[in-house]
Amino acid sequence: MLINRKIQTLDEFTIQQMRDFPNATGELSGLLRDIGLAAKRVHVEVNKAGLIDILGDAGTMNVQGEEVKKLDIFANNQFMGVLRHGISCAGIGSEEMDDIVVFDDDISNQSKYVCLFDPLDGSSNIDVNVSIGTIFSVFRRVSELGKPATAADFLQQGIKQVAAGYIIYGSSTMLVYATRRGANGFTLDQAVGEFTLSHPDIKCPEVGKIYSVNHGNFFQYEEKVQRYIHQCQKKTKATGGPYTQRYIGSMVADVHRNLIKGGIFMYPGTTEKPNGKLRLLYECNPFAFIVEIAGGIATDGKQRILEIQPKEVHERTPFFIGSKSMMEEFEQTK
Ligand code: AHG
Repeated sequence: MLINRKIQTLDEFTIQQMRDFPNATGELSGLLRDIGLAAKRVHVEVNKAGLIDILGDAGTMNVQGEEVKKLDIFANNQFMGVLRHGISCAGIGSEEMDDIVVFDDDISNQSKYVCLFDPLDGSSNIDVNVSIGTIFSVFRRVSELGKPATAADFLQQGIKQVAAGYIIYGSSTMLVYATRRGANGFTLDQAVGEFTLSHPDIKCPEVGKIYSVNHGNFFQYEEKVQRYIHQCQKKTKATGGPYTQRYIGSMVADVHRNLIKGGIFMYPGTTEKPNGKLRLLYECNPFAFIVEIAGGIATDGKQRILEIQPKEVHERTPFFIGSKSMMEEFEQTK
């Protein structure tokens, strides 16, 4: 039988990367393998969503006061479960839960990482068969190994992330993750149930033509943002405008598309919600890390997302992210 050695699975890739570091313990590869396993389970449920009665509201509100869908709970339990039972993670923070969960057992207390995740982002799109995603962020603990993880392990600046990634459940299911060595994308080969390397060394095009923003909130944005949006709609030789507007309402899908094709995604503050909607730790930090590693820029409109010192796990921030030249155009808008 012929074996196609051009195909590299997620596990093979992470193990190969680990071999370049003689002191690596394999914990990060293990953690990514655990995340890949949970992602496959969520993929299966997402694909069944139209067939079984898993759709609909679970009848509870999450800590943000938003309606929780059943699939959110399923995804949360899967990611928490694999990380709890794995040997690489000392605790987790989830967008679906009020507080961090410290695993506090003999193995977990020896683990050097903590993980934050949004188990199912864009969940209001589940009912209508539109792409949704999972976002994750990995930090090395700052607390003492051998003891339980602490809040300080989770409240680190984004720049300290060791790895960050997302899974998009779309026309195909893809897992993209970045470390300081680069961003790589793996597509789920459903026939064999393996994520296989399909997008090696992702680079965000420096120039893009797509802008993504919720136009419904236009009159609630600050004037600089309004002026930039108008700029995106103008015909100019310098930028190649007008740009194309695309907004799915699932940040994973919107930012993934812009990462591959080039573009800018904005979730600005509004008069009603000055800090916008998106969470610094669960949504913005991981994407800022991935996009910066791929050559793009991410800010809150004033400062680099990755340099913000978080005060609490559920804090929100305005978010601007994308291709270098478009982000620079935005920053230069008066
Ligand atoms: P949710 O998980 O509640 O559906 O929120 C999704 C997030 C993000 O993925 C998306 O970009 C944004 O909220 C959309 O919000 P608006 O509908 O306010 O534009």
